[in-house]
Amino acid sequence: MSAPDSDVLVFFGATGDLAYKQIFPTLQAMIRHGRLDMPIVGVAKSGWNLDQFKARARDSLEHHGGVDPTAFERLCSRLRYVDGDYNDPDLFKRLRKTLGGAKHPLHYLAIPPSLFGVVAEELARSGCAEGARVVVEKPFGRDLASARELNRVLHASFAEDDVFRIDHYLGKEAVLNLIYFRFSNPTIEAAWNNQHVESVQITMAEDFGIVGRGKFYDETGAIRDVVQNHMLQVIACLAMDCPTASGHEALRDQRRRLLRAVRPLDPSDVVRGQFRGYRDEPGVAPDSDVETFAAVRFHIDNECWKGVPFFVRAGKRLPVTTTEVLVRFRRPPRPVLDEEGPPLGNYFRFRLSPDVVIALGTKVKRPGESLQGERIELIAHHQAPDAMTPYERLLGDAARGDPTLFAREDAVESGWRVVEPVLGDVVPLHMYEPGAWGPTDVDRFPTPEGGWHDPREEPREAPL
Ligand code: BG6
Repeated sequence: MSAPDSDVLVFFGATGDLAYKQIFPTLQAMIRHGRLDMPIVGVAKSGWNLDQFKARARDSLEHHGGVDPTAFERLCSRLRYVDGDYNDPDLFKRLRKTLGGAKHPLHYLAIPPSLFGVVAEELARSGCAEGARVVVEKPFGRDLASARELNRVLHASFAEDDVFRIDHYLGKEAVLNLIYFRFSNPTIEAAWNNQHVESVQITMAEDFGIVGRGKFYDETGAIRDVVQNHMLQVIACLAMDCPTASGHEALRDQRRRLLRAVRPLDPSDVVRGQFRGYRDEPGVAPDSDVETFAAVRFHIDNECWKGVPFFVRAGKRLPVTTTEVLVRFRRPPRPVLDEEGPPLGNYFRFRLSPDVVIALGTKVKRPGESLQGERIELIAHHQAPDAMTPYERLLGDAARGDPTLFAREDAVESGWRVVEPVLGDVVPLHMYEPGAWGPTDVDRFPTPEGGWHDPREEPREAPL
């Protein structure tokens, strides 16, 4: 039996930052694309009325993506607002009334995880959780124990099938293409293993800092913010086995199997950095030792990937904003034909953002008498002009009850199991200058053979 569609969207934290920057633009886009046709109820404690709430929606759109007059009018006609304290049962009674005859509410908790418990409990007590689903944001917990505790709290009011944990990287077209590209090109998939692949590296670089998120970031750091979730999910998409059945659990099972095979990190596989000036940011402790940069070497303990390092480097205030994957293939053992220089291997380069590129590093013969060649890239730019944003895609999926692109409880726990040994100050912190590629002069910096690829340049070869 297919899951029933949600018939009302409720979002908690409706006057907060996430709603302002992300949720209103997403709702307008969904309405524009005909993907949202239900009442939308904002819940928050701001002492506002509906008109103030609508004004906030307009302000959000003016600053994030622009107001589409027709879609905005339709959005406003659907908006409701319920104001009150999340600890007050009366708020939930009023919410229940506002839901009217709706049978399948979709509750989106855009609030700090410390409030999940009380909100989930009150939703259940007031009858608002009946037939409902709940969507929660990352990071899901701070470590394995707190993630388990959050799961326990949510499961007291919602079944696992009704819990949708957002990792917006799983809603990105370019990330989903990693899965599709591999499994729908059998020749490529045949070489996608440790016999042929030498190493994989992922750079997730941002040239900006923490832009007003000091308090959140200083409790989080790069490993919890993007490595435990986004980066491990990208690795799962790159390295998982092909699903053997159809249906959403088949894909989630394979992602989970792969994450289970990722070896828990050893401190020697990690470098942590902090950009100079971070401690002066509002909300950041003056002696903070939270990392704004991490370079990590992962190992996957299964037959297919044994011996292939997966490198990740992620950070703020780096030289450029982009996310790029480089899969390097092994080189031939000796020069071929008349070749004089060292033999070159192939590589695939997947740029995931801001633009979407797939490039294959190959060699072709250089014009002339001898059989000598040169490196060229076969490049495809692959970006649909009006592609859905990850949030649009994911909220639409949650409203239809499709959990494929959401992180399942066991996958989230596997992610924490991998990073847990290096959380906190186990690994020393090194400073770096804003605009540099993280700290320099660090012994044992996890570095791929041939070096880290600078996404602003063509990949270089490792010297032999
Ligand atoms: C978020 C992190 O999950 O992802 C941010 O909290 C980060 O710190 C952002 O900037 C990056 O997302 P994207 O889609 O811009 O790569």
